[in-house]
Amino acid sequence: MLSIMGLAFATIVAIIWLVLRGNPRSKQVVLPPGSKGLPFVGETFQLLLPSYSLDLPSFIRKRIQRYGPIFQTRLVGRPVVMSADPSFNRYIVQNEGKMVEMWYLDTFSKLFAQDGEARTTAAGLVHKYLRTLTLTHFGSESLKEKLLPHLQNLVQKALHGWSSQDSIDVKEAALTMTIEFVAKQLFGYDSDKCKEKLGEKFAHISQGLLSFPINIPGTTYYNCLKSQREVMDMMRTALKERVASPETSRGDFLDHALKDLNTQKFLTEDFILQIMFGLLFASSESTSMTLTLVFKFLSENPHVLEELEAEHERIVNSRESPNSPLTWAEVKSMTFTLQVINESLRLGNVSLGLLRKTLKDIQINGYTIPAGWTIMLVTSACQYNPNIYKDPLTFNPWRWKEMELDVIAKNFMPFGGGIRQCAGAEFAKVLMTIFLHVLLTNYRWEKVKGGEIARTPILVFKNGLHVKLAMKD
Ligand code: HEM
Ligand SMILES: *[C@@H]1O[C@H](CO)[C@@H](O)[C@H](O)[C@H]1NC(C)=O
Ligand SMILES: *[C@@H]1O[C@H](CO)[C@@H](O)[C@H](O)[C@H]1NC(C)=O
Repeated sequence: MLSIMGLAFATIVAIIWLVLRGNPRSKQVVLPPGSKGLPFVGETFQLLLPSYSLDLPSFIRKRIQRYGPIFQTRLVGRPVVMSADPSFNRYIVQNEGKMVEMWYLDTFSKLFAQDGEARTTAAGLVHKYLRTLTLTHFGSESLKEKLLPHLQNLVQKALHGWSSQDSIDVKEAALTMTIEFVAKQLFGYDSDKCKEKLGEKFAHISQGLLSFPINIPGTTYYNCLKSQREVMDMMRTALKERVASPETSRGDFLDHALKDLNTQKFLTEDFILQIMFGLLFASSESTSMTLTLVFKFLSENPHVLEELEAEHERIVNSRESPNSPLTWAEVKSMTFTLQVINESLRLGNVSLGLLRKTLKDIQINGYTIPAGWTIMLVTSACQYNPNIYKDPLTFNPWRWKEMELDVIAKNFMPFGGGIRQCAGAEFAKVLMTIFLHVLLTNYRWEKVKGGEIARTPILVFKNGLHVKLAMKD
């Protein structure tokens, strides 16, 4: 709450300052077209009005029709330029760190280097370190050499639990499954020994993000902040224990980061906690949402489910012993599964788009986007382009067979792009692939209820998606 008031205050001060200063630049500069809506609140409410379909949120669609693919608006009191222009989006993503910066680096780099050049360099270092650290623990090598059997184990255990219940909310259950695994790799979290349930806490946290920020007991927002504190406290306890007895090294993410405390000047214990929180959030919300979408689309498209089951049965049948553990080669051979995942990511459009802050004035189509503005690259808008995807609203995983790689690269960015591409993309894909393998070879399932989605504009399932699992005989 404090920080939001701080932000509001800072914004008001900034506006007064701009008004007093008379904003001389506005005379020479042509800003992108668009309406700013009501002062301060801007167009936030229009954007947040849910549209109950898979189509582009009407807010964005209407403005693209009126102003073209690049337009300005105002969100939570800040000027924002939205771009649904694929070449511009690609250009921006390729100039990461030079023209634009990611929000988390923005906050961080302010702390220790003020001026332009030094700040950009510092942000670059922090980013590189975080990325390498994440990839060391969640990247391809780690998946192949270490995580694969653990993931299979986790999924088997989770699905066994699901099948013992009459009905299960996929989003919630998948969130718990993902977060417990990631937390284990990060700081040794063990759900059997821990009375604090991380999955529940993160369910509160993601609900809070969609709620109106009123911080009094009983509100969703209040619970969100409370859960956030509890998660931080839990991780702080784990960190303090490690620091107190460094001899019990486990070689996990936390140990690795603590070891680097002496060599990486920018690392602090608090920053390590923030990173771990960020990773828990980034990994669990998106992965569980994607898995829920896969369930939804499979339940609506039985012919896809059939082909998918055939792919996994083929793999089991070509094994010497049907119960031998999954191999890396097998995971990599699940092509149709990946097509189903791609198509779910495309149609479901899991990420909101990419948010960036401009570091300098950017010229585009005769307009100027001033330094310090926020750009939202609506990457998902391309995912419905009828010139690229025939019948864009149809769930058709087979379309990926014929797509060319450079066309994909330009028009499909569910994991972002350039040097900021999702560091957990491979992990997420492998986790989802293994999940589908274990599910389809061992269980039958049917939808019990739910599955209607809403965009607020963040994707949500209105009444969840409940399924019932039963062991195959
Ligand atoms: C289906 C699942 C996922 C989706 C759709 C997704 C999507 C994304 C997107 C779009 C970005 C780029 C954000 C931007 O450029 O503004 C991103 C970044 C990131 N994601 Fe994911 N993500 C997923 C799963 C994961 C998982 C499982 C992890 C961790 C294990 C993870 C860790 C990260 C990290 C660390 C970044 C920042 C990368 C950087 O700044 O270099 N993500 N993700
Ligand atoms: C996907 O959703 C985000 C917000 O959830 C929105 O910005 C984007 O335009 C949407 N795209 C499509 C194709 O629905
Ligand atoms: C799925 O999309 C990715 C881009 O995220 C692409 O590299 C890959 O080739 C696609 N996979 C299939 C099977 O079409």
